[in-house]
Amino acid sequence: MKLTDHEQKMLDGTHGQAKQKAMDLLVRYGEALGAERLVDTRNVCGTAGGSTPFLRDFAAKFGGYDAVFSEFNLDSSETVENPRAEVFTCQVIQGLDCDHWQVLGATPQAVAHHKESERHEAELGIQLTNTCAPYLLGNVPVKGEHCAWMESSAVIYCNSVLGARTNTEGRESTGAAMLTGKIPYWGYHIEENRRGTHLVELASDPGDIMDWGLLGYYLGDVVQDEIPVVTGVHAAPTLPKLKHFGAAAASSGGVELYHIVGTTPEASTLDQAFGGRSPRERFVYGPAERRAAYEKLNSTARGADVDYVMLGCPHYTIDQIWEACCLLEGKRIHENTSLWIFTPRAIRELADKNGFTDIIRAAGGWLMSDTCSAVGQHLPKGCKVVATDSAKQAHYLPPIMGVQARFGSTRDCIEAAIRGRWEGALT
Ligand code: F3S
Repeated sequence: MKLTDHEQKMLDGTHGQAKQKAMDLLVRYGEALGAERLVDTRNVCGTAGGSTPFLRDFAAKFGGYDAVFSEFNLDSSETVENPRAEVFTCQVIQGLDCDHWQVLGATPQAVAHHKESERHEAELGIQLTNTCAPYLLGNVPVKGEHCAWMESSAVIYCNSVLGARTNTEGRESTGAAMLTGKIPYWGYHIEENRRGTHLVELASDPGDIMDWGLLGYYLGDVVQDEIPVVTGVHAAPTLPKLKHFGAAAASSGGVELYHIVGTTPEASTLDQAFGGRSPRERFVYGPAERRAAYEKLNSTARGADVDYVMLGCPHYTIDQIWEACCLLEGKRIHENTSLWIFTPRAIRELADKNGFTDIIRAAGGWLMSDTCSAVGQHLPKGCKVVATDSAKQAHYLPPIMGVQARFGSTRDCIEAAIRGRWEGALT
C-alpha cells in the first residue's frame, strides 16, 4: 500500500504508540482488501463503548478502558494510552438508556459501568450521540464526502440518500480511523464501484413507511449485497420512509448502496445510475412481491395477542414521534401490553419540551433513547410477541430474542398497543 509521508510517520511511531497501532491496523486491513492507498476522512461513526459484561470484566482485569480500546479498537494486546480523537467521531447506538434502566430491567451496577465507559469515551472526544441514525442529529455528510461509518442502516443511508461514501466499517477500523483520520480507499469510496447492478421496477409508488419497509425487505432478498436501481417512484419519499427502506434492505440482504432514479443524488437518470452499463438482472415489484414480503415478516406470529410494541428502528424522527402521539393522545395502552419508542437522546429532549413525552407517558408508553431492543437485548418481562413497524426489527428480534414478531404500519402497531391484540392486515 502506498502511504503519504504523514501516514508513514504515523506508522513509524513518530506520532505516538496509539497512532502507530492504528496505522498498522489500517495497513493490514487495507492490504487484505486490496486497497492501494488510504483516503482522508473527517467523519467517523463507530464505538469505543466498554459497558457489556464481557468488556467490563476485561477492563477490570487488564487495567481499565485504555486496555479495552487497545485490544478491541486497535487490535493490540499491548495496552497503549488512548489519545483524543483526531477527527469528528460519533458513538453509534449503545446497550442502555441510563434514564430508563428500571423499565429496561437493567441493574444499578450496569448503569454505573455504562456511565464510567461513557466518561472514558467523552474524554477521548467521542460525541455521545448513541444512535443508529446520526443523520438525525446533524451529522449529514455531503455528496462525495469520505466517511468511516458502522451500522448497516446508517451506512446505506449515508451512501444512497446523502451520496457520501463509506463501507460498512467495524469497531476496529473506526477506532483506527478516529485516531488517524484515514480509512482504506476501496469499495464504495471508489466512483466506479458505486454504479447500479440490478434493476427493480415498481408497479406503483410505495405509500407509508410500512410499504417502504416491505419494498426494502424484498429488494435485499433478491439482490443480496449488490446495488439495486429502483424505477417507478413518482412521489418524493420522506426521510423516515428512506430510513425504514434502507434498514430493511440491509437486513434481508447486505445492501449498502441503492439508487432511486429521480430521487437519490447519483441517479438523476437511469443511465447515470448504471454508469452507462446494462443491468445484470431485472425484477418487477408488484402486489404479489409485496404480499410475499409481508407474509415473510409475519411468519413467526401465531396468536393475535401482542405483549410488546416496539417503535423506533431505526431511531424515530421527531415527526414520527409526533405521529405516534396523534394516534395515542387520550387513549390508554392495554394492561397486558408495553409500548416502547426509541429515538436519539437529543430528539427525546425535544420531545420532552414539545410535550410529546407526556402524551406517551399518559397513555402508558415510554420514550427511550440511546439503545433499542435488538442491540440492548431488553424486552418487557415475559414478552412473547412483539409488534413493530420496522422490517429490520421484525427480522432480527425472533432469532435474537426468541420472540414472535408482527410487522405492520405505525397505526396497526399503536392500535395493537391499545387493544393488546393484532388486527393489522395488508390492504
Ligand atoms: Fe437501530 Fe437497533 Fe434498529 S440499532 S436500526 S434501532 S436494530
